[in-house]
Amino acid sequence: MKKTVQTFRQRKEKQQKISMVTAYDYSTAKIVDEADIDGILVGDSLGMVCLGHPNTLQVTMEDMIHHAKAASRGTKNALLVVDMPFMSYQTSAYDAVVNAGRLVQEGHAEAIKMEGGEEVIDQIKACVKAQIPVMGHLGLTPQSIHSFGGYKIQGKTLYACQKMIHEAALLEEAGVFAIVLECIPAELAQMISEHVTIPTIGIGAGVHCDGQILVFHDMFGLYSEMNPSFVKMYENSGSVMKTKIQQYIQDVQNGIFPSQEHSFHMDSSLLTQIQTDYLEDSKGEK
Ligand code: KIV
Repeated sequence: MKKTVQTFRQRKEKQQKISMVTAYDYSTAKIVDEADIDGILVGDSLGMVCLGHPNTLQVTMEDMIHHAKAASRGTKNALLVVDMPFMSYQTSAYDAVVNAGRLVQEGHAEAIKMEGGEEVIDQIKACVKAQIPVMGHLGLTPQSIHSFGGYKIQGKTLYACQKMIHEAALLEEAGVFAIVLECIPAELAQMISEHVTIPTIGIGAGVHCDGQILVFHDMFGLYSEMNPSFVKMYENSGSVMKTKIQQYIQDVQNGIFPSQEHSFHMDSSLLTQIQTDYLEDSKGEK
């Protein structure tokens, strides 16, 4: 069944948890979609896990559209949410609508995600007014890494907690259909989840959020540069893959691969004919 922003809203009403995972290409999106996930996020984390950048700040609109297009081809039922990259919306409400529109038209996004609270509220309102569903993102917003001074847990002071609760309400009022809460104390995430009527999607925000999201590469041990403690690695596929590649190298070196089953063969009469012709040609040359 096709999942939409309405599905997300209904899930919260029925107190049914929402699950999301990131995907950045056709094959991964197809696997995740066929597993019956509720939402796929083409996150700007692709800058790190796919493109090898040190953070998400260098990701461009072109990167996002390229990966969103690919992921959309593998997505049938999940809601496809695409991240607005750094500087595609911070500059003005006009830029936000133009770039969100590109993600929908060219990248086939069904919703977009923007990081931030009060400072981007006009941009969020403008996109909602343009009929583009928006997912909010509070807490550790990676595009603000330089302001935060690193990847640090957020919401640790009274002021920070009050500000985040207030901003969640502002986002709801602005019309976002859900809010990602990243790397904040579970108690604060619970308060926010109870305070708003839209679903909260947690990552490092405890069990009381209305849903959870994980980065695909973290779930499967495919990105070793960062290992946040809130990530659950479901399988160390990265390590299995490395062992299998080493086995392949050995097979090639020892002539074990390709074997008969991985080779094509000529019809025997054609082979005899070619060998005969070849022998006669080489005699003639002498
Ligand atoms: O870019 C991303 O993958 C994200 C998730 C961590 C929520 O924003």
